[in-house]
Amino acid sequence: MSEIGEDVAQRLATLLSGAIKGTSLYPAGHPATLGPLQEMASIVEKALRTRPEIGLGVVDGVFFVEEQMFYTPSAGIEELAVRLQDREINGIVFCPGVAVDGLGRFVTLLGKSGLKADEITAEMTSQGITGISLITAVDEEEEEIRREEACLRTHQEALESIEQLFRDVEQGRIPGSDRIGTIVREMASLAVKDPAALLALSMIKDYDNYTFTHSVNVGVIAMAIASHLQYGPEEMEAVGMAGFLHDVGKVRVEKSILNKPGKLTPGEFEAMKKHTESGTEIIGKMKGISPKVAQAVLGHHIGYNRKGYPEWAREMPFTAISEIVAAADCYDAITTVRVYQKALNPREAITHLQTIAGSYLNGNIVATLREMMGEYPVGTVVRLDTNEIAVVYRPNLKESHAPKVKIVLDASGRRLAVPLRRKLVDDKGNTYARIVAVVDPLVKNIDVAACLSMTAR
Ligand SMILES: [Fe+2]
Ligand SMILES: [Fe+2]
Repeated sequence: MSEIGEDVAQRLATLLSGAIKGTSLYPAGHPATLGPLQEMASIVEKALRTRPEIGLGVVDGVFFVEEQMFYTPSAGIEELAVRLQDREINGIVFCPGVAVDGLGRFVTLLGKSGLKADEITAEMTSQGITGISLITAVDEEEEEIRREEACLRTHQEALESIEQLFRDVEQGRIPGSDRIGTIVREMASLAVKDPAALLALSMIKDYDNYTFTHSVNVGVIAMAIASHLQYGPEEMEAVGMAGFLHDVGKVRVEKSILNKPGKLTPGEFEAMKKHTESGTEIIGKMKGISPKVAQAVLGHHIGYNRKGYPEWAREMPFTAISEIVAAADCYDAITTVRVYQKALNPREAITHLQTIAGSYLNGNIVATLREMMGEYPVGTVVRLDTNEIAVVYRPNLKESHAPKVKIVLDASGRRLAVPLRRKLVDDKGNTYARIVAVVDPLVKNIDVAACLSMTAR
């Protein structure tokens, strides 16, 4: 599946916005409106050759066309976003069967003031308009759940394939890269479409399988960062692969050192430090993996300030992939409970990363991580002014103090059998509740990972 380019996405949205405005100026079928409709139909038809459908709309306050997100939209696109929200439309989906004539009638319906999504859908059915459907606010939650389920499945597959890959190396085999490559590609596409859903999964920590979950989580967080930095597909995949494989060299470190609860002796630390070089060597032998990945793995413990190891490689020219993996590595490590370490909550973790931004970590990457996580990162447990206790499961990129939450304890402290999804501020600016404090999940006996991986409503 090839990506829809930014220019194509921009053109499609601009044409749609212009065509809607045109309906108030010209009668249906007027040549001034026909040209843009024909161009739209041809863009849609061309894009549908490589994908089953094309979605555009507004998610978490940001306008998108497939994987292209418009964080700073043009006036025309902003107008389109507002119009869709007014009509309670969260998305428009184009499938094969779109015709210029149907598109024209659809655009006219969108241009009529006062019509809401349900009425437009009913009208489209009665007019026999094919190949176009609307996603409404109610569907949005279903769509969200569908994406979360896809992320959860891929996350599980990633865990299994990383475990297999590590075992292969342990037993002296050179692992193939086909399976892991497919998973990285799938995840990269999920990271572009819905980085927040993917990021939520990085809060799933498996104490007994630390190395595997840590590897997958670093890949996930790194891909979410790359997506936010608007990396292209090839770079995204390299970032994900480097994240998944960054610690593969630990297979060659003795288990007693790897799992030692206390501080390592200088000799043990030297043995541990070898994992970057061993990892690079293992990856170098695997077929089909970009040399960029091996290079990034070599540098994942060399800081932005060129401190770290291996000492001999400190002056090598590492790419941003290495720096992204290093930041994701730190974030996952400090948010995970280990034998020797209490976990920081996600908010404390970001604050900690900010103290080493510009020295050990690249400041821009930490700033990106902070920006995409928002004021209350995914996995933070909060108390609302309604006295309910909730887990943050999605950031709100426009209003970072008001993320989406799952309510786990009601106002009287009763545990809900199924957490309730709530937007603290909805698309029209109505406030459901405000966050008044961050709460320790242990104190309230809340299993954050279980709550985030529960996809049902
Ligand atoms: Fe490492
Ligand atoms: Fe690591």
